[in-house]
Amino acid sequence: MYNFEEITQKVKENLSDFRFQHSLRVSEYAQELAKKNNYDIQKAKLAGLVHDYAKESSNEEFLFYIDKYKLDPELKKWKTPIWHGIVGAYIIKEKLGIEDEDVLHAISVHTTGDIEMTILDKILYMADWLEPGRDFSETLDAIKTKTEANLDYGIAQQLSFALDFLSRKKEAIYPKTLYAYNYWVGGIK
Ligand SMILES: [Fe+2]
Ligand SMILES: [Fe+2]
Repeated sequence: MYNFEEITQKVKENLSDFRFQHSLRVSEYAQELAKKNNYDIQKAKLAGLVHDYAKESSNEEFLFYIDKYKLDPELKKWKTPIWHGIVGAYIIKEKLGIEDEDVLHAISVHTTGDIEMTILDKILYMADWLEPGRDFSETLDAIKTKTEANLDYGIAQQLSFALDFLSRKKEAIYPKTLYAYNYWVGGIK
């Protein structure tokens, strides 16, 4: 396991500056959300820092890891937006030596959401969306305030936004996201 500085350096080397800066902001904001939810600040800090580590990997690399770790072959039909979370968690474990299953799980679901989400899953999912570098509208501002008081509120808002955004672009919706939407927004428990 590398120390935090070493991991930061590795993330920096693997990403464009734009995405590295986003990662630092997610890490910062994840710590704030952790404080508000009495959660382990170090875990939130680490999850935020590394969550997009694999986002600029090539398609070939993702496909290689899907085979290497014998992941669901259905995953091959998807692309980077899905891969960098689910497959990214394996890449991060291997390349950064991160073994913490809570952190790896949060990375795995940070692009899709899920029906069952731990506090760390929720913190990372929301920090990724609400980090201060995002283009803030009044709507997002209000969502941020309410999310800081109640993570579950934010989860429902983000899933609703994601479904709306993807369907308007006529893009496929990953099944896990659809199930998560039905659970968190549609009230199918
Ligand atoms: Fe991401
Ligand atoms: Fe991100």
